[in-house]
Amino acid sequence: MVMLTLKINGHDRTQEVEGRTLLVDFLRGGGLTGTHVGCETSQCGACTVHMNGAPVKACSVFALEAEGADVTTIEGMAQQGEAGDDLSVIQAAFKEHHGLQCGFCTPGMIMSAAALLKDVAQPTEAQIRSHLEGNICRCTGYHNIVKAIMAASGQDVSSVAAQ
Ligand code: FES
Ligand code: FES
Repeated sequence: MVMLTLKINGHDRTQEVEGRTLLVDFLRGGGLTGTHVGCETSQCGACTVHMNGAPVKACSVFALEAEGADVTTIEGMAQQGEAGDDLSVIQAAFKEHHGLQCGFCTPGMIMSAAALLKDVAQPTEAQIRSHLEGNICRCTGYHNIVKAIMAASGQDVSSVAAQ
């Protein structure tokens, strides 16, 4: 066991971990179960979190690699909510534009979307689709996810097809 210290959603945390512990297991084991595990092979993106501001697939990062890092999970996004319902702008847009069905992929989609919008204020549909190539959704066919992200960036999506 090795002592690990990092910051998660703005809070310092120090805990013993095994060298083989994955970041996603560390987070979920500490109660942050919003970060999902869909494949454990770095393909589905359900485990996406931000590490020092950059999106990473937490199933492909050892917890010890996050030593000293600033990690944000989907729970941290909710705490940034501005609408009084604890939802961030992106989460609210997913809700409004039906960007989720079962919701399994949603945390990873939102963390990836947040990373994109930080770099590109108003991405095109093509840019969004390209950015989401590492995130798999088994339900929605992606269309409403893309629409929600465009809406979250303040773009008019009224002319975008509903389905
Ligand atoms: S669980 Fe990490 S990419 Fe699928
Ligand atoms: S909403 Fe079900 S996997 Fe994406």
